[in-house]
Amino acid sequence: MNPPFARPLSASTRLLAVFGAPIRHSASPAMHNAAIAELGLDWRYVACEVAPERLREAIEGARQMGFLGLNLTVPHKLLAVPLMDELDDSARRWGAVNTVVFETQTGDGEWKPVGQVAQVNGPVRARGFNTDADAIIRSLREDLAIEPRSARVLLLGAGGAGRAAALRLADEGVEALWLVNRTVDKARAVADEIAERFPAVEVKVGYPEAEVEVVLNATSLGLKPEDPLPFDPQQFSLQQTDGVYDMIYRPAETPLLKAAKAADRRTANGLGMLLHQGAAALELWTGQAVPVTTMRRALEAEIYGRA
Ligand code: ATR
Repeated sequence: MNPPFARPLSASTRLLAVFGAPIRHSASPAMHNAAIAELGLDWRYVACEVAPERLREAIEGARQMGFLGLNLTVPHKLLAVPLMDELDDSARRWGAVNTVVFETQTGDGEWKPVGQVAQVNGPVRARGFNTDADAIIRSLREDLAIEPRSARVLLLGAGGAGRAAALRLADEGVEALWLVNRTVDKARAVADEIAERFPAVEVKVGYPEAEVEVVLNATSLGLKPEDPLPFDPQQFSLQQTDGVYDMIYRPAETPLLKAAKAADRRTANGLGMLLHQGAAALELWTGQAVPVTTMRRALEAEIYGRA
């Protein structure tokens, strides 16, 4: 439901969207529309189910229809990289795109976000950013009181989200990183990349024998209530970690977080990461400071059913 202070939809309302498959669980529209209303913008943020083989056409359609920008979620973050006209340094460094800014060329040849110009007269290009990677670092600090620098981390998952998190954690200067993934070769490839780009970080494929500060789930295991734990309890015990972070935010309590709570560990779900990646994206589209507290409240209402 639109907040009561949202500007009415009209023929001049401009659109943003999140593309994903599946997408119906997304809390992004609630978060962004609350902020858009508070900023008094004549914008709306919608969610579209887009199949991976249709991503190129969907991005092109959004460009042609004058959308201001996009968020991309599973399974599009890696697929979008070669589809961008331009990659921001963040997307290049972390190897995935979760935010697209449509930019237009102004009279003086400068490219500006479409949301920040009165009228689009020139060509429009899609510029890909990654706002996820910084968001995970921030959320680990805020929501788990973990300082990633010098931490020992067990990272579960080496898909798009896992790889970006691994590289960003390495860049932050974690002491040691253990990578576990169902497809071991993908974890090995990420470990090799880290060894080359961040030689000071100790990186291993497999489970740690000693203790770690945090276990971070970047797999999709936990989205369904019947999912097994994303780690092998024969090889790792939750007693070996101080905290457990799950990038999943719906359900708010995954089997992993339930087990971690039962083991008396500190826990956080992915709400904080979703919040900070979304706030950074909205800043890119608007070019102004965004109401983060309002966005957090909207997410909490959407995810926990309370304002
Ligand atoms: P995302 O962009 O969210 O990372 P992804 O690239 O499809 O999406 O990655 C999904 C992650 O969840 C991967 O680590 C995947 O393991 P594989 O690399 O072996 O595919 C993991 N995953 C998905 N389903 C899984 C399952 N049933 N068991 C274990 N891991 C699973």
